Parts: sequence; structure tokens; C-alpha cells
Amino acid sequence: MTRLIFLGPPGAGKGTQAKTLALDCEIPHISTGDILRQALKEQTPLGIKAQAYMDRGELVPDQLVEEMVEERLCQPDTKSGWILDGFPRTVKQAAFLGELLQKLEQQGEKVVNLDVPDDVVVNRLLQRGRADDTEEVIRRRLEVYRSETAPLIDYYGDRHQLITINGNQSLEEVTAELKKAIS
Ligand code: AP5
Repeated sequence: MTRLIFLGPPGAGKGTQAKTLALDCEIPHISTGDILRQALKEQTPLGIKAQAYMDRGELVPDQLVEEMVEERLCQPDTKSGWILDGFPRTVKQAAFLGELLQKLEQQGEKVVNLDVPDDVVVNRLLQRGRADDTEEVIRRRLEVYRSETAPLIDYYGDRHQLITINGNQSLEEVTAELKKAIS
């Protein structure tokens, strides 16, 4: 049973690797960024509330994202496993997820930390050019990552759930290292 959480700075390759692995394992790839961007596109109440935070490169409030993830993990297609990409992003979200997985009897999750230096991720994102990929917003996303999300490396390390992968290699090399590490 594959239950994986991807951690790493913006541009680390979380979405790219999560998509490949989810297809391979035939399990859902759950990206909170993708769900929020879709909500924004459809101008749902969630999307409207999230927009200003996303535009600034700030985190959307925990409660909004937690409700969204709970709803998604309760769907039947998660019974055979899942990959979470972009959640949790704060220690509070991690504690919420731990309780939720216990309630849903979906424990045994592993956490993949994609390690990539700042200058590499900035270059990757400037080349990609998503709405929040301007230099100013990328710098803010990196600051928020360092202060709010990086503490999860120790959080999951202390719980012996962490696998760290060098994300500063070709896509194929990262995928190969990842598959070996989780097999
Ligand atoms: P989100 O969509 O999660 O953005 P992010 O974490 O900033 O991640 P990215 O999608 O930018 O990077 P990635 O690591 O997935 O890299 P990717 O594979 O795309 O979140 C966006 C916003 O939503 C947040 O700022 C926040 O406002 C909100 N949000 C989301 N979740 C939230 C939460 N839990 N709580 C609160 N708010 C939340 O790759 C990037 C580029 O690099 C691509 O062009 C790719 O082709 C390239 N690339 C990837 N790997 C390699 C490689 N090995 N070599 C060369 N190029 C590579």
C-alpha cells in the first residue's frame, strides 16, 4: 500500500514526481495547489477566499485546506493508497493529518523530502512561468517554505517516516532514486 507525502521547496519537483508515481501505482495524486487553482478558476467560495493568499505566495489558512483534504481523503478511490503533494505545509496541518489518517485507518504513510538548493528552484520556476512564478512571489514562497514547512523535516524525521532524495538531478534520476527508496 503506497501512502506518500511529498515535501520540498517550491519547484523541487513534487508535482512532477508525484504525478509519475501515482500513474505507475494507479493511485490518486492529491495536490492541494492543483485543487486550489481549480477552485480559483471556477470562482468557487473556496477559490475566492484563497486567491489573495496564493497571489502573494502566502499559505491559505490551515482550516480551509484541512477541510479540503479531509473531503478528498474520504473519497473511495483513496482506499488503495494516495500521494499527497503540497500538504501538510505547517506543523498544525501535519498534526491534523495524523489524526485524520488514524480516524480513517489510513496510517503507515511515508514522507519524501525532495532536497534542492534555492538557486536551482528559482531558475526552474522562472522558466515554467505559472501565475505565482514571478521572482518576487517565488522569493516569498521560499521564505514561507523555510519558516512554515521546513520544520516538518524534523517533525517526520523524529517519527522515522522521512526519506530524503536529492532532487537536483535529472527527472529520470530522481524518479529512479525515489522508486528504489520506497520499494
Ligand atoms: P503548490 O501548487 O503546492 O506550489 P509549490 O509548493 O510552490 O510547488 P510548485 O508546484 O511550484 O513546485 P513543485 O515542487 O510541485 O515542482 P514541479 O514538479 O511543479 O502551491 C501553490 C500555492 O497554493 C501556495 O503558495 C499556497 O498559497 C497554496 N497552498 C497549496 N497547498 C497549501 C497548503 N497545504 N496550505 C496552505 N496553502 C497551500 O516542478 C517545477 C518546475 O521544475 C517544472 O517546470 C518542472 O518541469 C521542473 N522540474 C521538476 N523537476 C525537475 C528536475 N529534476 N530537473 C529539471 N527540472 C525539473
